[in-house]
Amino acid sequence: MEFRELIKYRESVRNYDSNKSIPQDVLNRILEAGRLAPSAANRQPWKFLVVTSAKMLEKVHECYAKDWFHAAPVILIVIGKREDAWTRRYDGYNSLETDLTIAMDHIILAAANEGVGSCWIAAFEPTVLRKALKLNADEIVFAITPLGYPDDSYQPGQAKNRKAISEIVEYL
Ligand SMILES: Cc1cc2nc3c(=O)[nH]c(=O)nc-3n(C[C@H](O)[C@H](O)[C@H](O)COP(=O)(O)O)c2cc1C
Repeated sequence: MEFRELIKYRESVRNYDSNKSIPQDVLNRILEAGRLAPSAANRQPWKFLVVTSAKMLEKVHECYAKDWFHAAPVILIVIGKREDAWTRRYDGYNSLETDLTIAMDHIILAAANEGVGSCWIAAFEPTVLRKALKLNADEIVFAITPLGYPDDSYQPGQAKNRKAISEIVEYL
């Protein structure tokens, strides 16, 4: 899809067709977009956990109690370790959240480009998810998204509710 179209077309999808799985080649292209994302000092401090098995999906579903979240065939979880990310020596700023955000953004845009819906979710219960995934203490769950094809109830092209350019841009 043409870039400007993609940016306009991408929106959070909360209607998934539970009967339609994502072909592996499509999933691979989506994950490849995350792999190619930039990161501070090119540290690539991420791991992408792709939950597709019924057993793991059931466990992961407990972290976010929305029917539409439970309907998606794939849950993608971006995790990372702070020690793997770059740290600025002057003030200790660590780039983990920034790097993982960029990777997730690449992923959700690539998904939209494939016609695959996503919805960035931060309101999950971290302890429940950590337990389900058996994460080590140093592994940070940063963002999760369902991935799946929208169902028939999905109405694409909702008007984007955004601040005006004049409110957010300042030329100096
Ligand atoms: C950091 C972040 C966290 C979000 N967390 C949630 C969430 O927990 N649940 C949810 O339904 N949507 C969540 N969203 C989706 C936003 O509500 C959505 O992106 C925003 O309303 C703009 O709509 P759009 O994505 O359709 O353009 C989140 C988005 C971001 C970027």
